[in-house]
Amino acid sequence: MRIDVLTLFPDMFEGVFGASILGKARDKGLVRLSAVNFREYSTNKHGQVDDTPYGGGGGMVLKPEPIFAAVEDLLRRKEAETPQTEAAAEDDTVPTPAPPRIVLLCPQGETFTQRKAEEFAREEHLIFICGHYEGYDERIRTGLVTDEISIGDYVLTGGELPAMVMIDSTVRLLPGVLGNENSAVTDSFSTGLLEYPHYTRPTEFRGMQVPDILLSGHHANIEAWRRRESLRRTLQRRPELLDRLELNKQESKWLDE
Ligand code: ADE
Repeated sequence: MRIDVLTLFPDMFEGVFGASILGKARDKGLVRLSAVNFREYSTNKHGQVDDTPYGGGGGMVLKPEPIFAAVEDLLRRKEAETPQTEAAAEDDTVPTPAPPRIVLLCPQGETFTQRKAEEFAREEHLIFICGHYEGYDERIRTGLVTDEISIGDYVLTGGELPAMVMIDSTVRLLPGVLGNENSAVTDSFSTGLLEYPHYTRPTEFRGMQVPDILLSGHHANIEAWRRRESLRRTLQRRPELLDRLELNKQESKWLDE
């Protein structure tokens, strides 16, 4: 997978792209990550990328030219790196590269969820556009982007932190990124439920005990306990998640207890 971020603050991404699981995924060649300063694509000698809104009013609006130029340059470079030979173009068995998802970060967008992370993880190429201004010229929305995404109902100073959130949650789903493949499968939300409680050594800590069942070695009973705890925790904390699930008789009974 390839992920490019267009931002006025590419330095913000250095630590995130190089550290921990993202850093390892990059070192293993599972993802290619880059942050590009779209100010380099300003058509103005002062490097201006925003302007006052037509019709008046406060704030500044991100101009369309630098954003379109930066995306077009990215795509040109990508094509130059992977030239389509004539033979490959004619050969039906060689897949043509999928067009990138071009994602605009903004509070008006669709709310990001685990489902969206799973959808993004199936893409070959993601481009995130991070603004730092009052708004985006509407033509960026209508003429360039494929998705508008928000990470929640609050307003941040820019799209950089939301882009990092989305990149982190997407990359950890790529095959080979997490050591234990199961850990993404049992995550909160992947199953549609919140995760069950975890314990490790010691069996007793400051008077707090590990539940006996986890020490029993009885795998079927442990699985059933985990499922029940997941369901109960979801009922307590996020009951609306249960509306989307089909529960069997036993599971419905657990919730009534
Ligand atoms: N830019 C500013 N606030 C944002 C949010 N909540 N989500 C995505 N992008 C944003």
